Amino acid sequence: MPNQLLATKDIPTIIHEAEKGEGDAHVTLKRSLGALNLATLGIGAIIGAGIFSLTGQAAGEFAGPGVTISFIIAGIGCALAGLCYAEFASMIPVAGSAYTYSYATMGELMAWIIGWDLVLEYAVAAATVAISWSGYLNKLIGIMAGQDVANRWLPWMLSPFSEAKLADGTVIHGIMNLPAVFIIVLMSALLIKGTKESATVNNIIVALKISVVLCFIALGWGYMNPANHVPYIPENVSGHFGEFGWSGILRAAGVIFFAYIGFDAVSTAAQDAKNPKRDLPLGILGSLAICTVLYILFAHVLTGVANYQEFRGHDGIAPVAIAIGKTPYHFMKTAIICAILAGYGSVILVLLMGQSRVFFSMAKDGLVPQVFAKVNPKTHTLVSSNILFMVFTGLFAALVPGSVVGHMTSIGTLLAFVLVCVGVVILRHTKPGLERGFRCPLVPVVPILGALVCLGMMAALDRETWERLVIWLAIGLVIYFGYGKKHSKLRAANAKIP
Ligand code: ALA
Repeated sequence: MPNQLLATKDIPTIIHEAEKGEGDAHVTLKRSLGALNLATLGIGAIIGAGIFSLTGQAAGEFAGPGVTISFIIAGIGCALAGLCYAEFASMIPVAGSAYTYSYATMGELMAWIIGWDLVLEYAVAAATVAISWSGYLNKLIGIMAGQDVANRWLPWMLSPFSEAKLADGTVIHGIMNLPAVFIIVLMSALLIKGTKESATVNNIIVALKISVVLCFIALGWGYMNPANHVPYIPENVSGHFGEFGWSGILRAAGVIFFAYIGFDAVSTAAQDAKNPKRDLPLGILGSLAICTVLYILFAHVLTGVANYQEFRGHDGIAPVAIAIGKTPYHFMKTAIICAILAGYGSVILVLLMGQSRVFFSMAKDGLVPQVFAKVNPKTHTLVSSNILFMVFTGLFAALVPGSVVGHMTSIGTLLAFVLVCVGVVILRHTKPGLERGFRCPLVPVVPILGALVCLGMMAALDRETWERLVIWLAIGLVIYFGYGKKHSKLRAANAKIP
């Protein structure tokens, strides 16, 4: 029945159901977050492994100092998508984010595809950041306890499919990434404890990591060597796409796009927000604007203090440590690494929170089992869902190499952005009269440009990443036709209509 697959959900019904809560006690999420908390939630999810790890890799291998241009390109794509997210979030302020927006515009099947795709953005991204966390921890152990100790622990800090080459040429094979599991368990426990408590910890970490970024920019500015910025866009000598030159800038934009992921997580907190219609657009666009400015300055200083070639071959670990080592402030290396480790914690926290909120909405619609919609009456948190995602994300982080999960996250997020941009145009057409707390400017130009820039960044990702996306979506479709379609509440309600 193709018409059922395209059945859309009525927006007033979506909002009413979200307010109503579940069960006899009508337990639902508690509205405990204001505008500032929402913006810090966004920053908490955004600043992390992307800026602190991938910037060095992207500069060293693809773009040179021109990585700042890559940050501008990716920032423009995110800003265009961010405006579309802001319109939707102010119009449909419920927890499902892009999933719910698709249900209201493109129908159940597309909503399912997006909901399933968002697992790549949130749960798999949390695993990616946890893996990077483990890499930084190894660096810290090396500084504090000696390289021998760090090397001895290395097999337990890598996935079984990863290996590391030591300075003397010895190759170490991974067994399991235990620290990555540890940080996921810790952040899941905090989410289970309470949303307000999680937001408070997030606020503290955000203050810490913004201070680190500002310190790095301020201290490094005076030690930039202008020669390191020449040539700003190194020539592409190999003739291969993505190896410096303008194609390298584009490729690097696709890679560092990861650094922007998370601003949309603000929209998943719609049911935790006190005044969602006003505060969600503020939180989404505010956090994105602050981070974009910080990123461009940060990348400029990083590639000015150290030559981009020095970042090659470090697998993205600790470019900040390399750069700070070039200044008289090298004694701050340990403190900066500790702050970065804390900073990654908040990224994992907010992404896991976003994941639980998306599945909360999907479970309420019957597309995934009800266990994901269970709100604990004492803590008002999604305890069962948090535990299930802790196990799933923990397994990914323990067993899968960082590069694989990282690229899967980027392609999955870009796909969600494209569909949100398309959704705004559709809804302006089908429901022009609905109340919108925030209106995306210049529709359809902004959404179309947003979709095109995101599609461009998807195209710059490698073939294997595309194949993994197709496999992931195929698994999702099997689950939808095996479970979701049969349990869909919208389908059941429509079937009753004569
Ligand atoms: N944007 C987040 C990070 O860079 C996912 O860690």
